[in-house]
Amino acid sequence: MIKIIKKKNYEEMSAYAAEMIAAQILLKPCCVLGLATGSTPLGTYSKLIEKYQAGLLDFAKVRSVNLDEYCGLSPEHDQSYHYYMKENLFSHINIDPDNTHVPNGMAQDMKAEGERYDALIASLGGIDLQLLGIGNTGHIGFNEPDSNFPTATHRVRLAQKTIEANSRFFASVDDVPKYAVTMGMTSIMSARKILLLANGVSKAEIIKKSFFDSVTPQVPASILQLHPDVTVVVDEEAGSLLP
Ligand code: GLP
Repeated sequence: MIKIIKKKNYEEMSAYAAEMIAAQILLKPCCVLGLATGSTPLGTYSKLIEKYQAGLLDFAKVRSVNLDEYCGLSPEHDQSYHYYMKENLFSHINIDPDNTHVPNGMAQDMKAEGERYDALIASLGGIDLQLLGIGNTGHIGFNEPDSNFPTATHRVRLAQKTIEANSRFFASVDDVPKYAVTMGMTSIMSARKILLLANGVSKAEIIKKSFFDSVTPQVPASILQLHPDVTVVVDEEAGSLLP
C-alpha cells in the first residue's frame, strides 16, 4: 500500500523523512537502514545529524546498506557514493564504520560482488527501512527501465538520461561512469518499510507515472505499488500532477 504525503517544500519533506527514520531507530536501535544518495536525501541527512548532535538519536547499533555505487570509482573519489555517505552522514554521527556497507564499484567480478552484497543483506536480517530517491527515468537505486524488473544486486548500464542528469556533479558528461552496481528489486521489495522522497518540478511527471499508472519495468519505481508499506513524501512541486 502506498501512502502519499504532500509537504510544502524541501525543508518540510526532509524533516518528515528524518522523523520517520528517527522513529525506526528508536523502535529498533539495531535496525538495518537502506540508504540512498543523490541530492534528494541531503536535507534528511542534515536533520538526522542535527538530532544526533542534540543527543536525540543514537546510531551506535544501527547497520546500513547503501543502494548503489558507480563502477570504477574508488571510495576516495569525491563523486563515489562511499565518499558521499562519509561526507554527508557517517562522519557526523556515531555509526560504527564497520556497520556501514556500500557496494564495491571497484570489484573485478561484478557477479561475485552482487552475490556477496545480497548475502550480506540477508545475513543482517534484511532491511527494516529503505530510503529511496527517484531518477527522472523512474529508476530506484540505479535500476533503469528494462524489459523486466532486475532481481539481484547487479551491474547496470546507466541510461543516457541518467548520465546527463548526474553530469552536474562531474567536470563533464564524459566523466560520468557508464556503469553502476545496484541492489536489485528483491532486496528493495523485501524491505519491511519503504520511504521514497521526491522534490522539485522535474520529478512531478515521473511521480505521477510511478504511482498512478500501471506497474511496468519501463517505470522501475512502479513496482513499489505492490509493496505493503510504502510512504512517498513529495514537496508541492513534485506532487503537483497528483490527483
Ligand atoms: C541517482 C541515484 C538514485 C537517486 C537518483 C535521483 O542517480 N542512484 O539513488 O535517487 O539518481 O537523484 P537526485 O536525488 O539527485 O534527483
